[in-house]
Amino acid sequence: MGGALAVRSARRDDAAAIAAIYAHYVRNSVITFELDPPDAATMAVRMDSILPLYPYLVTECDGVLLGYAYAGRLYDRAAYRWTAEATVYVAHEWHRRGIGHMLYAALIAALAAQGFQSVVGKITLPNPASTLLHEACGFRQVGLLAKVGYKQDAWHDVGIYQLELGTRPVGPEEPRPFLA
Ligand SMILES: CC(C)(COP(=O)(O)OP(=O)(O)OC[C@H]1O[C@@H](n2cnc3c(N)ncnc32)[C@H](O)[C@@H]1OP(=O)(O)O)[C@@H](O)C(=O)NCCC(=O)NCCS
Repeated sequence: MGGALAVRSARRDDAAAIAAIYAHYVRNSVITFELDPPDAATMAVRMDSILPLYPYLVTECDGVLLGYAYAGRLYDRAAYRWTAEATVYVAHEWHRRGIGHMLYAALIAALAAQGFQSVVGKITLPNPASTLLHEACGFRQVGLLAKVGYKQDAWHDVGIYQLELGTRPVGPEEPRPFLA
């Protein structure tokens, strides 16, 4: 692949490529606590629950999807609605080429422009690639959930990372949809 990397909004017909990238980590790692890889139809339904309020971005090169990042609600209760949770996955053969950083930078810029006040990443530890990416993007660890996930015959900690996006005014405007 010799073309340029480009970030764009995800489309429903990206679901199969996104499911294929994610399946590798479901099967072979504890990065995600999901145990069975979702198929493309399930992934498309999940994408529908994110867009249009939250950004869902992909990176492609020469028409091949190499990574994706999206945000969602941290928790359901209404008062949490200015805080987003971010997720990023890059195809395992394409690590360390700047794709994760490119996706996260675009995701963070979109969330800030929408009016979210902060963004949180939850990382199964240890995951140096993810913790260093988060720190390179300005996140700081603010918490740790000890041994909350059991997968591959072991219990795993989850680090909570947070990045401030706004000034937290009194009476904040509602976050604007990503796809207005
Ligand atoms: C985490 C992940 C998205 C990083 O994507 P990537 O495209 O490989 O990362 P980038 O090339 O953009 O790296 C950006 C920065 O992150 C850090 N980084 C990323 N991978 C790293 C690694 N393996 N070791 C050390 N630092 C790393 C570096 O600071 C890097 O900047 P540099 O290359 O200028 O030193 C990728 O490793 C991945 O998909 N991992 C599996 C899924 C995952 O862990 N997702 C996060 C769930 S919380």
